[in-house]
Amino acid sequence: MRASYLLVKDIHVAADIVIVGAFSKKEITQSVLVKNDIPKEWLATLNTTSLGKQFTGDKGQHLYLPNDNKHIYFNGLGKKESFQDEDLRRFVANALHQAKSHRSARRIGFWVDSFLPGKKCEESLFTAVETALLTDYSFHKYKSKHEEDKLEIIFFINKPASFKTKADKILELAKFSASSINFCRDVVNEPPNHIWSETYAKEIEKDVKAHLKNKGVKIEILGKKELQKERMNLFLSVNAASAHEPKLIHLTYTPKKTTTKTKHIALVGKGITFDTGGLCIKPSGSMANMKFDMAGSATVYAAFRVAVLAGAPYKISCFMGITDNAISNNATMPDSIFTSRGGKTVEVLNTDAEGRLVLADVIDYACDFNPDEIIDVATLTGAVVQALSEKACGLMGNNDALVNRLLKSSREKSEPTVHLPLFDFYLEDMRCPIADLQNIGSRPTGGAQKAGAFLKEFVRNDIPWAHLDIAGIGDTQGHLPYCPKKGGSGMMVRTLVHYLTNGEI
Ligand code: BES
Ligand code: ZN
Ligand code: ZN
Repeated sequence: MRASYLLVKDIHVAADIVIVGAFSKKEITQSVLVKNDIPKEWLATLNTTSLGKQFTGDKGQHLYLPNDNKHIYFNGLGKKESFQDEDLRRFVANALHQAKSHRSARRIGFWVDSFLPGKKCEESLFTAVETALLTDYSFHKYKSKHEEDKLEIIFFINKPASFKTKADKILELAKFSASSINFCRDVVNEPPNHIWSETYAKEIEKDVKAHLKNKGVKIEILGKKELQKERMNLFLSVNAASAHEPKLIHLTYTPKKTTTKTKHIALVGKGITFDTGGLCIKPSGSMANMKFDMAGSATVYAAFRVAVLAGAPYKISCFMGITDNAISNNATMPDSIFTSRGGKTVEVLNTDAEGRLVLADVIDYACDFNPDEIIDVATLTGAVVQALSEKACGLMGNNDALVNRLLKSSREKSEPTVHLPLFDFYLEDMRCPIADLQNIGSRPTGGAQKAGAFLKEFVRNDIPWAHLDIAGIGDTQGHLPYCPKKGGSGMMVRTLVHYLTNGEI
């Protein structure tokens, strides 16, 4: 799908279907229509047809008017005062699905001025473009037959030519944001026989070269030898049975202008390309879809990618710990004890609690670079899904200010996030009689927090740290019209980008 915009006063041109938003109370819609010199016949249909007369612009109302060769699709948006960004997203996504169902439609127009809430045009245009491109995503590369979508989406904006520079920038950023989220979805959806640690690392390297060069980004990839040298024994224990080398990708971004006060944020992502559970093997029902266990790493990479292009004001490091959790005669046996990079010993009582082992060593590594804060993202526990449902993200941390900033960011981007406190008793349950820690609790309760409490032990020097458990929200979010019915959702990328760009996007 192509997305473009037109600065026009007259939207007669260039679309087969024009999607118009209408706030409740018809007068508002009409005054917008009149103000923008829109075709008189639209107004007439709205005023004279019986369907048109019934249309009040209340939320959820639709009015589809075929009109010669140009179709108009009115969407009730409800009260203007209560129209939020998320309403805008859902409207754009639903309307796009509708318009696409008209097979003849090739050029779909969104009339931006008709759905501008009190807010600035810039923000709404960004959200509309981003949402349209997220909605249009599909993962079809393994379909032997696929009809290429020749759809074009045009955003009509009633602004003078001087708006062009701004509009260009907004479109570029919105497209890049959507393509990054879609990249994250692709990585998650890619089957395990097509992506593994080495190919994943190559893919990231290729993407960095293609999109982030000359933008202050450096990449370093550590392999097995380097991880051994770094004594990342917990990470290596997860990789023990793998046919592939473990990879630790380390990306850094330095903004153009820095001072001694420039904040340094480290992102850490769990990248298990497939989680069999190891010798504590998962039953087949739970193992299916464990290709998605790399979503944390894909999420932090996508957020890093957008933040870089948007010229984030912070120094950002991004660490992705990548391996599969496999089974072979070398597989780590439950009861094994390993010394972590930082020196703490861990008894591995369950090889299926592997994400925390990888993250523990990578968090310790990240601490070496003295970031001002660390945010890790991981599909860490089934327990977070039990606790919050599959529609929300669990957030934990050792620093209330950081947690609150992330909560605010998630609220502003409408990505449901719940703060789970890390009470001392969670950690107590992770203490081990014969090692410093064990990798699972004694009882299967409070699993998300116990995993969080475990990770917290590997954060050094009291660096503020937060942990996002996306085991639910990272996958299938079919209830959201801008997410695919099945597969990687790319959720939480927007929250992180918003955070990393200081609320700019
Ligand atoms: N990758 C899983 C967590 C997961 C489960 C993600 C379901 C998405 C959906 C993780 O490695 C895991 O297996 N965790 C175990 C921990 C347990 C052994 C303490 C779990 O949640 O069952
Ligand atoms: Zn596991
Ligand atoms: Zn896992």
